[in-house]
Amino acid sequence: MSLKAYLLTAIAIAIAIVLLGIGIYRTFFNLPVPKFLNTGRGRGDESTAQDYYKQVGGVQWSGQQCQGQRCTLAGWKSANGFGSGGEVSAVYYNEGELGLARDVHCREVNPVKVACYVTNYGSSFPADPLTSLSNAAAGQNPRETLAIEAARSFSREGDTWFFVYSAAPGNALLPSAQLDNEGEKSVPNICQGCHGGEYAYDQKKFVGGTMLPFDVFTSSVLGPSGSVQKIGATAGAYQEAFRQLNGMVLDSRGRTIHFTSEPPTYTFGDPIRDLIVGWYDHCPTLSKPVNGSGLGGTTGCAADDTYLPPLWTAKPVLYQTVVRRYCRSCHNTLDHGIEFTAWSQFEFWANNSAGIVRLVCNIGGASWMLMPNAEQTYARFWSSSGHTDLATQLGYPTCMQ
Ligand code: HEC
Ligand code: HEC
Repeated sequence: MSLKAYLLTAIAIAIAIVLLGIGIYRTFFNLPVPKFLNTGRGRGDESTAQDYYKQVGGVQWSGQQCQGQRCTLAGWKSANGFGSGGEVSAVYYNEGELGLARDVHCREVNPVKVACYVTNYGSSFPADPLTSLSNAAAGQNPRETLAIEAARSFSREGDTWFFVYSAAPGNALLPSAQLDNEGEKSVPNICQGCHGGEYAYDQKKFVGGTMLPFDVFTSSVLGPSGSVQKIGATAGAYQEAFRQLNGMVLDSRGRTIHFTSEPPTYTFGDPIRDLIVGWYDHCPTLSKPVNGSGLGGTTGCAADDTYLPPLWTAKPVLYQTVVRRYCRSCHNTLDHGIEFTAWSQFEFWANNSAGIVRLVCNIGGASWMLMPNAEQTYARFWSSSGHTDLATQLGYPTCMQ
C-alpha cells in the first residue's frame, strides 16, 4: 500500500473512532433530558448523589469506594433494626405509578423514625403483573432495592432520606436507579419526582420529601389459581398489611399530627395524613397513639377509597375519575398550592393558560404534555378514559387537539 493510502486509511479509522466515541458518549453520558420524574430537576448526576449520601447516610467516598454502615443493604437494615421484630411486609404490584411488583418491609425504628425498604421486580416497564408478582413472591430476579428513612424530628415536617441498593450480590449503595424506559436517573432527583422534597440551596441540603401512602385500589396481588387481583377487591390479610403500612406512613409525618384522644380530635391540613385518615375513618375505634405504633382501629378494616376530601364536594366525579387515579399520589406531596386537595385550586390550573391545557392536555398547540409526570401514570391516563373524563369534567371540547 502506498503512503497516501496508509494515511487515508488511518484518517478514516481515526474519524470512525471519533464518531463511535461521540455515539457512546451520547448514549451513556449525555442522555437526553428526561420527560418523566423531572419537572426541572433533570436526571441528576453521580457526584450529587454521592454528596447526598454523605449528608444523609453518613457515608464517606474515596472515588467509587463507599465507607460506612449504609454502604450496603445489610448495613442499612441493621442500622434500622430490621430483624429485631416489629416488621410489616407485603408483596404487591403497583400499577399506579411504577408498573412493577414490589416486596416492601417497614418498621418503626424509634418513636420519631420509620424505615422501609422495597425490592422491585419486573423485566420491563410496565412489568407483566403475573410474572413479576410470582418472581416477587419467590424472591427471584430482583431489581434494585429502594429504601427510605423518614424521621419526624429532623425538621418541621420531618425529613426523608432516600437510598438505592444494587440487586447484585453484596447489595451495594448505588447513585441511581431505573424506574422507567428513560433509563437511569440519580438520587435524590429520581425519588423527588414522586416522593417530593427540595434541595434547599441556602442550607446546601435536601429537605422535605415524604413516604407515600399504599393505595389498595392501584395495587394488586396474586389471587387464586394464577389470577391477579386488586387488593381493594380482597379482604383479610392484604388489606390488613396495607392498613398497618399506611399507619406507618401516617406515623412518618410531622409530630403534631398525632391523635391524642379517643375519639381522635383531628383537623385537616396535611394532604397525606388526610388521605390516610379518610381511607380508614369509617373503621370502628380508629385511634392513633402518640409515639405511634401504627394505625389503630379494627384489625382487617378495609380502606374506603371512595373518600372525597371535604373541599372536593363540588366536583366529586372529577376527583374520583382523574385526580385520585392520575394526580393525587404525586401532588399530595407538593405544597405550593398544587397539592390538589381542593377543587378551587385545581380549577385555577384548569383556567390557567400555562396550566392543565398545556401541561396535561394538548390544546391549541405548543403543549408540553409533561403531566402526569411518571411514565406509567401518563400511559394509563392516555390509554384509559382518564383524558376524556378530564376534558368532560373541565368543559374542554377534548384533551387532545
Ligand atoms: C414513579 C413514582 C415513584 C418514584 C420515582 C419513586 N417512588 Fe417510592 N413509592 C412510590 C409509591 C406510589 C409508593 C407507595 C407504595 C406503592 O404504591 O408502591 C412508594 C413507596 C416507597 C417506599 C415504601 C415506603 C413508602 O413511602 O410508602 C420506599 C422505601 C420507596 N418508595 C423508596 C423510593 C426511593 C428511594 C426512590 C428513588 C430512588 C423512589 N421510591 C422513587 C412511587 C415512587
Ligand atoms: C409523577 C408525579 C406527578 C404526577 C402523576 C402528576 N404530577 Fe403534576 N406536577 C408534578 C411535579 C413534581 C410538579 C412541579 C412542582 C414544582 O414545580 O415544584 C407538577 C406540576 C404540575 C402543574 C404546574 C404547577 C406549576 O407550578 O406550574 C400542573 C398544572 C400539574 N402538575 C397538573 C397535574 C395533573 C392535572 C395531573 C394528573 C392528571 C398531574 N399533574 C400528575 C408531579 C406530578
